[in-house]
Amino acid sequence: MSGIDKDFVIKDKQTIKEYSLNQIKNKVLYGDALEILKKIPANSADLVFLDPPYFLQLPKKQLKRWNVKTDVEGVDDYWDKFESFEEYDDFIKTILEQVKRIMKENATVWIISTYHSIFRIGKIMQDIGYWLLSNVIWLKSNPMPNWLGVRFTNATETLIWAVKNKDSKKYTFKKDLAKEYGIGKVGANVWIIPLCTGKERLKDEEGKKIHSTQKPLELLKRIIEITTNEGDIVFDPMAGLGTTGYAATALNRDFIMIEKEKKYIGEIRKRFSQKPVLQEKKIKKEIE
Ligand SMILES: C[S@@+](CC[C@H](N)C(=O)[O-])C[C@H]1O[C@@H](n2cnc3c(N)ncnc32)[C@H](O)[C@@H]1O
Repeated sequence: MSGIDKDFVIKDKQTIKEYSLNQIKNKVLYGDALEILKKIPANSADLVFLDPPYFLQLPKKQLKRWNVKTDVEGVDDYWDKFESFEEYDDFIKTILEQVKRIMKENATVWIISTYHSIFRIGKIMQDIGYWLLSNVIWLKSNPMPNWLGVRFTNATETLIWAVKNKDSKKYTFKKDLAKEYGIGKVGANVWIIPLCTGKERLKDEEGKKIHSTQKPLELLKRIIEITTNEGDIVFDPMAGLGTTGYAATALNRDFIMIEKEKKYIGEIRKRFSQKPVLQEKKIKKEIE
């Protein structure tokens, strides 16, 4: 797909009661995933990638890097805030129940987060019947420095990979690719990938990051290549800057994305105004 048609973004409305798959394939649904997911047909996704709010609860005061005394640009977005763990858990559970409904029988789901919430997410998944297949550790080769010096440098995020239930057996898994991407000779479940920086990182006119948590295309490339086939439908209910759909298109898969922030919707449009392409990146098997 190159260039986008005028109905590339569909604004969700209360009056719309359901969407057909054809209507929303390769489109971005603008609105609240809590509402929109209910309107999507059951058994429609081959793969779901979920990059939810992490509920980081960062301290109010501005953090400085310990070595250079510059400000740390943390995640302080309103969409990452919840009143309590209970509220956060309810949100994640509601989303995951709907995701399960829209997954095909042999579909898989990937969910990413940090230590702040990945353990709760894993528990919720098991409680509602998902069957966990693996976890993959994303090891950042260029993490933020350990600016306070009171905790370990946080250089990892965890991805959980799961099926709808214990009986889902015929899911897609390209074992040779999985081995190639993983570290060491055994191709273990650790992927060394840099944070999204340089030209790939979308910035505004003042050079500020447009989204605090834009994921690297390389991460989505691996996920999509290993766990889908060409022509499959890749679904992302919290799309941010549309990284998932971008990688999916470049890899000849279809996508459906949802995002509730107008600002990001505009950026997704811009990002898709040129044909999505992925750069070849060298696969790192060891960290220096
Ligand atoms: C962690 S970010 C995703 C970043 C994305 N993977 C990327 O590479 O740009 C989570 C996104 O979920 C969106 N979001 C949060 N709650 C939502 C909801 N209820 N419905 C739709 N989008 C939501 C936020 O606006 C935010 O852009």
